[in-house]
Amino acid sequence: MNTPNILQMGPLTDAFNDRLSSLHATDRIWEQQDRDAFLRETGRRVDIIVTSARYGCSAEVMAALPNLKAIISFGVGYDPIDMDAARARNIRVSNTPDVLNDCVADLALGLMISSARRIAAGDRFVRSGHWGQQPFPLGSRVSGKRLGILGLGRIGKCVAKRASGFDMDIRYHNRREDPAVSYGYESSLVELASWADYLVLTCVGGPSTEGLVSREVLAALGPRGTLINVARGSVVDQPALVELLLDGRLGSAALDVFAEEPQVPAELLDLPQLVLLPHIGSGTHETRRQMEELVFENLAAFISRGELVTPVL
Ligand code: 8YV
Repeated sequence: MNTPNILQMGPLTDAFNDRLSSLHATDRIWEQQDRDAFLRETGRRVDIIVTSARYGCSAEVMAALPNLKAIISFGVGYDPIDMDAARARNIRVSNTPDVLNDCVADLALGLMISSARRIAAGDRFVRSGHWGQQPFPLGSRVSGKRLGILGLGRIGKCVAKRASGFDMDIRYHNRREDPAVSYGYESSLVELASWADYLVLTCVGGPSTEGLVSREVLAALGPRGTLINVARGSVVDQPALVELLLDGRLGSAALDVFAEEPQVPAELLDLPQLVLLPHIGSGTHETRRQMEELVFENLAAFISRGELVTPVL
């Protein structure tokens, strides 16, 4: 492919955006006055889409691009990309796996410790001048406690490895047991939740896990349990999560992702024991740089030889 025409679905860093348009003829859909008119008038010339786990690509956009050959995505999660539509058109898709495992797993442990030891609340307590004025509530231990993992994949295994360093008892739930791991397998997510002190979500997003962490699972985790989500907000029944946190049937939560980002249910903002973050799992200089490099490697490989370095389709 000599001079591909690229359509970028949303802004990433300025450096990324500039690098892409300096290398290839790139249209930025978010800069178009009339998005639909743009797709109608120029859709035929688009060969490749560059997007991310935030912007994805719908079947409608794909339908407007008759010559689309590949979707190159920034992020490991591809739930916002209509994979059925891509598969039907033999459109190749790549993501950026593995390079972010460590940072997402680090944040999962950070969220667990921050929630258990009230780090964020303690920081607010000191900054608001309450220290010396009133006692600060005790936290809960992490070391040696029971950790349940929903989705023992690449990131889940990194969480388990770190939690082993805290002498935690680890069990997991996946669609199938993984004979290659020594952690206890729980075929029932409700059973895993009722056993666990901390339940960490590291599974994929999308239709296959939508609402998997149901009201029943949250109730099983219980008034002394803590939910940690570094996967996707869609995995959790969020209205049930809010209700059970408000009435104490669920002890606490430490959340990096939400159902309608950047919207966060207002009721959660007032619960001091919660830790709420703006989807920063992979948000380190080192990891985002590696994710960017992987996007450009996939782009170069597809343009030069029609192959992808990290294909998901
Ligand atoms: C986002 C993520 O890519 O990789 C994923 O699936 O959700 C994140 O790493 C990142 O937040 C940029 O949108």
